[in-house]
Parts: sequence; structure tokens; C-alpha cells
Amino acid sequence: MINWPLTSFGIDSYGKVKLAVNGGEKVHSGPWPDWPVWDQSAEPGIIEMLRSGRWWRGNGEHVEEFEKKYAEIMGAKRCLATASGTTALITALGVLGVDGGDEVLVSPYTFIATYNAIFFHKALPVFVDTDPETFLIDTNKIEARITDRTVAILPVHIYGLPVDMDSVNKIAKNHDLKVVEDACQAWLAEYKGKRIGTLGDLGCFSFQNSKNIPAGEGGAILGNDDELIDRCHSAHNCGRPYGSMKASPGYAYRGGNFRMQQSQALILMSQMKRFEKDNDVRLANALYLDKKLKEIPGIVPHKLANGATRSAYHLYPFRYMKEQFNNVPKEKFIMALEAEGIPCSGGYGPQNKDGLFEEAFNSRGYKRLFSESRLKQWREENHLPGNDQLCNEAVAFYQSILLGSRADMDDIVNAITKIYENRDSLA
Ligand SMILES: Cc1ncc(COP(=O)(O)O)c(C=O)c1O
Repeated sequence: MINWPLTSFGIDSYGKVKLAVNGGEKVHSGPWPDWPVWDQSAEPGIIEMLRSGRWWRGNGEHVEEFEKKYAEIMGAKRCLATASGTTALITALGVLGVDGGDEVLVSPYTFIATYNAIFFHKALPVFVDTDPETFLIDTNKIEARITDRTVAILPVHIYGLPVDMDSVNKIAKNHDLKVVEDACQAWLAEYKGKRIGTLGDLGCFSFQNSKNIPAGEGGAILGNDDELIDRCHSAHNCGRPYGSMKASPGYAYRGGNFRMQQSQALILMSQMKRFEKDNDVRLANALYLDKKLKEIPGIVPHKLANGATRSAYHLYPFRYMKEQFNNVPKEKFIMALEAEGIPCSGGYGPQNKDGLFEEAFNSRGYKRLFSESRLKQWREENHLPGNDQLCNEAVAFYQSILLGSRADMDDIVNAITKIYENRDSLA
């Protein structure tokens, strides 16, 4: 299928190419792009800010500068910067009224912070099964999970893949529910030509170090409703009234300290100089991989959800069908791929079965807020065959890999093809 640069080391005694995991030569021996990438031209501005002592948003201009710029790039009316993606989610859910004893519909296939933001409000995360083809919430299964306690839907654009937001918003409208988009991995992704994170009531982003726009830590909330963003501002700043909110002599609102620092904003401003260009490179390489990888039996790239027009690729995901690989388990496939010099991840596990649920449900607060029969029903419904299937099949490449050259992408294709052609030596 492919012409290997064969050497005596790469061929076993039967004349077949030896997999690197079995002592053969690796397909990719060079480095991959580093991440994050520092921009030295940002240093004078950061040093000036540090020397000025104006380190927090209360006496500096940089967080507001970042908010304006991010809102503009994303096509949102307003942006509020936060300390992290988790605090953005906590703030957005709280401002939209999620409260103790409420239920929030959510995709199980996500980073654990999504569930924790719901737990923060003493609400119940109610899982809607995943569509393994799209890696996303199965919008056909949302309505069946709505109860009289459901107040919000929290769709997750995992890996930067856009959820079918028209379907989510239609269900939300019919049942009077709020929508918070977890866009923590979906900067510049698009649905019907509009930027992800601007389509629900509020959209939340993360700028943690591994992210496509990194700042060590950081987050943002986007919204088109001034009043809502003013309330987010207040909630993230100890409850101090902001903008259209009514000023009061004392503290009239509850809130936390979820503020972004000036240093985070300056790092973000410098990262934003490159992130649209990086995104184009990731997209071009991802589309190239889609085309090449789907020719390999048992490798199935993700399918775009209805209406999705552009994925952001925080990771490039595909499904590994072990039946086509002599039933070699996914873990062994990943080991073989890594040995060929291609770093990859097995994605999220079936976290809906993790300990945090029972830990929460057995707490005094949850016992007060949810009846035994509701929690029993939750446990009975916590069978998510689509999600289980995806956890068994998913494999993903990190976003920085997608910043490699076309030759690097060919190495990925060649490495998987090599494993496929030598699958019997792994069994
Ligand atoms: C899908 C998702 N939601 C929420 C978060 C939380 O963001 P942070 O780590 O910035 O708190 C992350 C970050 O890793 C994420 O990937």
C-alpha cells in the first residue's frame, strides 16, 4: 500500500515491515510542534505592567482590552473574562438561575469540569447519551431526559466539534430551558457560519495551558444580552453591582472572586496574534487526515453534526474499530502508534460511572435536595450505550500535532497503515 524507507532493521525474518513496538524502525522520528509558543514581542508590555503594580483588573486596562477583542473576533456583543473555564461555567449557570435541587442536561463525553460546574450549584447533572459518530450529545435523546426540575441544557462542543445548536435551542425554547454552551475547547468553531459560544444564552471558554489559545489559566463568557453579562460581571466580582444592575448601599448580590488577572490578559492578547492562523493550519491538516484516514479499514473520522460548518480541533478525533484490526485492543493500537512516533490519546473514559456521583448523592446536601426515588431513577438511567461505545473506540491527536507539516500528516497516515498491514503481529 505504501512505500516504506526500508532498512534491514525495519524488516523481520519473514520480509515484512516490523512495527516499532516490536523493535522495528519508527515512521516518525523527528519532533512535533511545541505548545504553547511564546511571543517575545509581548515581553515589554508585560514587564511594564509588572513594574506598574497594576496587576488586577480593578486598576488595569488589559482585561477589558482582551474582552473587547475577544467579543469582536467571536462575533458576540459582550465578553466577560474569568479566571478559568470552570469559573466561567459556574458563573454562567448561576446567573441563568441554576440552583440547588435543579437538574441540568449535559453530555457525558467531556472534561470533568463540566460536571463539577453543575455540582457547584448543588444541581443534578442528568446525562443525555452521546452519538458516537459525532462525539457529541445525541440531540434526539434530550427531550426524554427532561423532568419538572430541568432548568438548563449544557451542550459540550468537545474537541471543538460543533453541536447541532438549532436542535438544542428548539428543545430549550419548547420547554423554557436555558442554554449554556461549554465551548471550552471550541474557539473559532462555527455552526451555520456563526461562531460557537454565541448561540446559546451564554457560552463559556477556557484558556488553560493546553488550549488553542493558552494563558496558563483563564476563561471567558460570551453573550449578546447586556443585562446577562452585567450580572455575570457582578457574580464574578464578589457580587458588586455592574452596568445595568441596580447599585445598592451594601452587598445586595451573592458572588465570588473569579476575576482574570492583567498578566493573563496580556498573554492572551499576544496569543491572539497567531490563533486564527493556527486554526486555519489545524483545519487544513484535519481535512487532509479525514480524507486519507477514512481509506484505512477500521479508522472512522468523526462526522460533523447537522449544521456544523467548522470544527476547531482542540483534538483531532477518530474511531478505531478493532474488528478490522484482528481484534487488537485500542490500548495496544495506541501503544503501537506511539511507538511509531505519533503521540495520541484514548479520549475520555465512561466518567458517568465515576465516584463523584455517589460521593455527591451521599452528601447531606444532596440527600436533602433530591428524593431517594429520583436518585434511584438517575442510577437506573445511567446506562449510556452510545457513550460507552465511543469511550471504547475513540482515539485522538492533540491540537499541536495538527500544526505539523503535510509530511508530518503523511507520517500519521503511514504509521496507521503500517499498523493495519501488520496487525497480526500485534494480536
Ligand atoms: C470541555 C471543558 N469544559 C470545561 C473546562 C474547564 O476549563 P478550565 O480548565 O479552564 O477550568 C475544560 C478545560 O479543560 C474543558 O475542556
